[in-house]
Amino acid sequence: MLVVVHEDYGALSKKGAEIIASRIRQKPNLVLGLATGSTPLGLYKELIKLHKNEGLDFSKVVTFNLDEYVGIPPEHDQSYHYFMRENLFKSININPSNIHVPQGMFGELKISSFETDPKIVQFCDWYEGEIHRYGGVDVQVLGIGGNGHIAFNEPGSSLGSRTRIKTLTEETVKDNSRLFKSTADVPRYAITMGVGTIMEAHELLLLASGEGKAEAVRSAVEGPITAMCPASALQLHRRAIVLTDKKAAARLSAEFVTYG
Ligand code: PGA
Repeated sequence: MLVVVHEDYGALSKKGAEIIASRIRQKPNLVLGLATGSTPLGLYKELIKLHKNEGLDFSKVVTFNLDEYVGIPPEHDQSYHYFMRENLFKSININPSNIHVPQGMFGELKISSFETDPKIVQFCDWYEGEIHRYGGVDVQVLGIGGNGHIAFNEPGSSLGSRTRIKTLTEETVKDNSRLFKSTADVPRYAITMGVGTIMEAHELLLLASGEGKAEAVRSAVEGPITAMCPASALQLHRRAIVLTDKKAAARLSAEFVTYG
């Protein structure tokens, strides 16, 4: 695992965009895994700049997003479909048919048996199959939750898990409530790629910024590999790069890191 500490959020966002741009230049039909949340916003702004100023071409790039809330429609301003459209897709020349964001609307669900709901199971199998059909994800962008989650794989998620429906922890609901009118409006379930799905990407690029992530970054990089910190699975990956700012790296041992 390569851990690169940057002066600040701006520098880590630029570095992330440089890495992705170089992979797209090497392989114009790159299969790019994307994440939502506050952390990748700077990265997406930098990619848009590279597209506008340097002609970075997304026309053949294929994208797969990590996750989507269950029960809010794609037009909802907190859906991840909306987030991706507003913060990246509408400003680059991506072909809409190359975009994949998990479905979040499945009609009425019986909460007691949603994990075996045929509509959900069928969708999740299809999503995994699509990733496979494109030859797998080349580069997967990841954020990290304060609790060590990646995508919506909350602590306790199997490290071999595949795309499925997950219940969000209270901590995640509370973290995400800043974006909704009230905590009651935050969805309680999400469709998410599994840790096993993520680990099959050829390269992982995890971004972390701010002191709120320092403990999660320490556990992910230096802690034991455990389902209680799903991001710690990255220690088993052959090509995992962790880009942090100084605050998110504050609890790492110095010998672990390089400086960007
Ligand atoms: P954030 O979320 O980028 O909004 O901090 C990251 C995550 O929870 O995975």
